[in-house]
Amino acid sequence: MPAKIPAPLCRKLEKAARAAAKASYSPYSKFRVGAAVLAGSGKIYSGTNIENASYGLCNCAERTAIFTAAAAGERIVQAVAVYTPTQTATAPCGACRQVINEFGPTALVISVCNSAARLESTLDRLLPSAFGPKALRVRR
Ligand code: THU
Repeated sequence: MPAKIPAPLCRKLEKAARAAAKASYSPYSKFRVGAAVLAGSGKIYSGTNIENASYGLCNCAERTAIFTAAAAGERIVQAVAVYTPTQTATAPCGACRQVINEFGPTALVISVCNSAARLESTLDRLLPSAFGPKALRVRR
């Protein structure tokens, strides 16, 4: 089960995800996404989607945020917030679920948007029977 994260901290995470979307580089899809990660240290790392003229190299906001956290030495993801400037909330794509699983197999995953609609789940519900470090007998 994910650790209980206080509501004010969740709001702060959502705010960071909203702010991150402002830097979105998405000239092809024009779909702006912001993400923020609450890491093991308690710090928040944010990221946005970064597209590429070679479409397959586009990087999602969630992965930008998680890789930024990991590059800073973090190895635990407690929660992820995703923001899209849409009327419905957007859940992380399959690739991002897999990447969240590496550091946050039970992380809280929140999606917010420009309406009151929101999604709240946990990574193990979004990606059941996940393939992860344990399958390779790796302890982090
Ligand atoms: N995108 C994300 O940033 N996160 C997701 O979970 C789904 C998709 C981005 C990738 C691409 O830049 C754009 O949204 C359209 O797929």
